[in-house]
Amino acid sequence: MDNILITGGAGFIGSHLSQRLLREGKRLAIVDNLDDYYPAEFKRTNLEEIKEEGNFQFFPVDIRDGEKLRDVFSTFKPEAVIHLAARPGVRMSFVQPEAYTSINVLGTTQVLEISRQIGVQRFVFASSSSVYGHSSHAPFREDANISYPLSIYAATKVAGEALAFTYSHAYNLPVVCLRLFTVYGPRQRPDLAIRKFAAMILERKEVPIFGDGSLERDYTYIDDIVNGILLALHAPGQYDVFNIGNSHPIRIDTMVKTLSEALDMPAQCKYIPTPAGEMLLTHADLSKTAQVLGYSPKVSFEEGVRRFAAWLRSRA
Ligand SMILES: NC(=O)c1ccc[n+]([C@@H]2O[C@H](COP(=O)([O-])OP(=O)(O)OC[C@H]3O[C@@H](n4cnc5c(N)ncnc54)[C@H](O)[C@@H]3O)[C@@H](O)[C@H]2O)c1
Repeated sequence: MDNILITGGAGFIGSHLSQRLLREGKRLAIVDNLDDYYPAEFKRTNLEEIKEEGNFQFFPVDIRDGEKLRDVFSTFKPEAVIHLAARPGVRMSFVQPEAYTSINVLGTTQVLEISRQIGVQRFVFASSSSVYGHSSHAPFREDANISYPLSIYAATKVAGEALAFTYSHAYNLPVVCLRLFTVYGPRQRPDLAIRKFAAMILERKEVPIFGDGSLERDYTYIDDIVNGILLALHAPGQYDVFNIGNSHPIRIDTMVKTLSEALDMPAQCKYIPTPAGEMLLTHADLSKTAQVLGYSPKVSFEEGVRRFAAWLRSRA
């Protein structure tokens, strides 16, 4: 598969994936409307950095605009589509539920519909560990019941997986859904804890920690996520779901300590109540992903945080 279209390619994960695909000599199209969930300036910088790897086609199109999206697909003729475009973030999904359902459900439907119309050979959907909600015993296995999402965001990802399955079943569209576990690394979204907390530590502000600091997240370094997505392009079968994580949950208070050490700055913490919608723990069971895709994460949390801190300092 040489012609690859990424939706959301100007974002955090998409920009790393784009660079990697260009390095591997793929023809690349990026569809991204530079959504204002966080400043478009970050995404423009990402696009500039991708450009340093090679040429690609950029289409500033909203995935909900079926007509324009169809034109893009007809022009570029992608063999594979990696659908990352979404409104991310758990807490904001309670504030703007319509934006989340519109972009993540209607938008995903448009991308699936056009993909099946033009006969895409592989569709990869970026789902999330948040689909596991309260329903699962840790570590989370792909066959867990995901009928109980805890946030609107999580509910839109469950809906996205369901739609992707229906398109695969009804139209023989080959689909892989990837449940990504808290991704971090250079260019991480500014609303995500590691990046947000790093800024607070550097500005000597208090770092707000949910509950007693015992919430755990299965932080996964961006390069491991990109490896997982690339492996999914060659997954066997017509439809499947895989966890892409690190399978090594880290407590939030340990995360802050590791970050503070990597930044060589003390962290002042304040403990605040855990907001609704937050999972107490995320933990990927990787046995299926390892067995079927040959995935194994390589970057330890300590090493990943060191690389992230070095990147952050290089921008100061
Ligand atoms: N970062 C994580 O920890 C994480 C974890 C699980 C799942 N995911 C999923 O991975 C994907 C990428 O996440 P990210 O962290 O890189 O987020 P991001 O916000 O950096 O990237 C998403 C991109 O999609 C674009 N976009 C949003 N709405 C659009 C629309 N209507 N039309 C076209 N483009 C649009 C945005 O401009 C942005 O560049 C998302 O689907 C997200 O839900 C991320």
